[in-house]
Amino acid sequence: MSGATGGNGFETRAIHAGQDPDPVTGAVVTPISLATTFAQSEVGEHRGFEYGRTGNPTRAALETCLASLEGARHGFAFASGMAAEDAVLRRLVPGDHVVIPDDAYGGTYRLVAKVLAAGGITWTAVDLTSTDALRAAMRPETRVVWIETPTNPMLTVVDIAAVAEVAHGRGASVVVDNTFATPYLQRPLALGADVVVHSSTKYLGGHSDVVGGFVATNDAALAEHLGFVQNAVGAVPSPFDCYLVLRGVKTLAVRMDRHAENARAIVAMLAEHPAVAKVLYPGLPAHPGHDVARRQMRGFGGMVSFVAAGGEAAALAVVAETRLFTLAESLGAVESLIEHPAKMTHLSAADSPLAVDPGLVRISVGLETVDDLVGDLRRALDVAGTTRADDAEATGWRGALARRRRRASDTRST
Ligand SMILES: Cc1ncc(COP(=O)(O)O)c(C=O)c1O
Repeated sequence: MSGATGGNGFETRAIHAGQDPDPVTGAVVTPISLATTFAQSEVGEHRGFEYGRTGNPTRAALETCLASLEGARHGFAFASGMAAEDAVLRRLVPGDHVVIPDDAYGGTYRLVAKVLAAGGITWTAVDLTSTDALRAAMRPETRVVWIETPTNPMLTVVDIAAVAEVAHGRGASVVVDNTFATPYLQRPLALGADVVVHSSTKYLGGHSDVVGGFVATNDAALAEHLGFVQNAVGAVPSPFDCYLVLRGVKTLAVRMDRHAENARAIVAMLAEHPAVAKVLYPGLPAHPGHDVARRQMRGFGGMVSFVAAGGEAAALAVVAETRLFTLAESLGAVESLIEHPAKMTHLSAADSPLAVDPGLVRISVGLETVDDLVGDLRRALDVAGTTRADDAEATGWRGALARRRRRASDTRST
């Protein structure tokens, strides 16, 4: 980390860690270093960089910055969140067992159940809010307990310290997917986790313009493994990608505060709306993980899910009706997004124990004017409230999608 930032606060490190002014030009913004190869003064003598896949100055700045934010000694950037997850799990060998949450992100489920399982690794999906269930799922060959908290899209909150105690007691390591919370709201390593992974495509990048992943750890042996995989497999982000994430991270703290503030207003509206059967948000005192979230998080974040009272047809009608909330996958950026997990992000978990309620709607609350957001969602819910299950195909979903297409030009002018 840059010597000037050690011991400084989160916002200072987000802006300065690993990002000293350029020693040659004085540029205050980390240059996008495009060189694929670096001069050596003699064979094997270089200034820290040899070949672009192995290491790159822009990537090194990003890795230093993000590791600092997670309170980690080691950080590794990858080309996507899935590449980061894959790098961590490549440590497993045939016969090993991994525990995943029973509402894990669909891509994590797919990686474990379809890719790793084909290589002889076994897995169990467990409700990690119950340490008894976790204890029952642990086997002598369990090497990893994979936590996601809050989860995507159910917003389940898992007690990281409690899971770490059980896992470590059985000799397994603990990985936390910290994508939803970000290091601004939650620092898993300080709570006992061994590894943190991110889809930096989300809040870290923050602007829906870069796909990336990140892994942080304080474990030297694991760091050596990660550095080896990063170079050997080569799923590395481009220098431009690294620049975009670095740029996004500078405003992470202020963005997260506003995401959460806007989410609170939306949750208040959803809780009162008759077309909503249930709101899933850790900030609600009635949320089963509220007390744990208060303890281990600094705020409750900008992701909200809800179950439409009219089931799947109503959920599909809501996502088709909003104007400011764009119907799209992904999350964590300045613009508000809405999606239907069962048919979109979590389709890969359909027909599995991790299948998602088809009445569920997930929203990523952005940074637009909060009254506009509340108004947009309320209006869409008013329409969805009139959707009958039996006319959904004809008028609800398809009709609303057609209306959505027709008004595309109006939407752009808002
Ligand atoms: C919680 C979580 N983890 C991991 C990923 C995978 O990240 P990426 O899409 O950057 O590969 C996602 C993507 O949506 C996610 O939501």
